[in-house]
Amino acid sequence: MELSEKVRKAIRNVPNFPKEGIQFKDITPILSEPKLVSEILDYWENVYRSEPIDAIIGIESRGFMLGAALAERLQKPFIPIRKVGKLPYETVTFIYDLEYGSSEVEMHKDALKPNWNVLVHDDLLATGGTAMAAAELTKKMNAQVYGYCFLVELAFLEGRERIESYSKNVDSLAIFE
Ligand code: PRP
Ligand code: MG
Repeated sequence: MELSEKVRKAIRNVPNFPKEGIQFKDITPILSEPKLVSEILDYWENVYRSEPIDAIIGIESRGFMLGAALAERLQKPFIPIRKVGKLPYETVTFIYDLEYGSSEVEMHKDALKPNWNVLVHDDLLATGGTAMAAAELTKKMNAQVYGYCFLVELAFLEGRERIESYSKNVDSLAIFE
């Protein structure tokens, strides 16, 4: 079975969470399968190993798990983007719209060096607001987005269109049309 098919099969659909009408894509079953996690990391490691990436950005909270694991695989710094008020040191912040609600995220102001190429990782691309916030924070630091990798993309929400202006290099393992 292809990796994308394995990922797609492992995702649990939870209707009406966290709000009526939202079909939640739960990735925790993937994390319960270490062999599948290894396959995912093998795949991304292979895709990005020879690319000029200086750091991996992971977005709180579901972008932390595989983002940090991938950074270790690539032997690059892992940079967390967190919801506002969680990071202890000085930060840069960005406010954005979500699939459900709005949010403010931030990054430590010394985390990214100018001109670095970063790979943005999150579990899911929905409207693209979150990934766009990561790209905007990257820009504020005078660095650039090299690409994005997601486990899941909800293509019908057209997030890809929102984030492609920063980088067209978007890798989603399971795409739901
Ligand atoms: C979810 C998901 C992505 C984001 C995608 O995170 O993990 O980060 O929404 O939506 P978007 O493309 O419309 O911005 P959520 O805010 O639910 O928080 P969590 O990761 O901490 O659970
Ligand atoms: Mg998230």
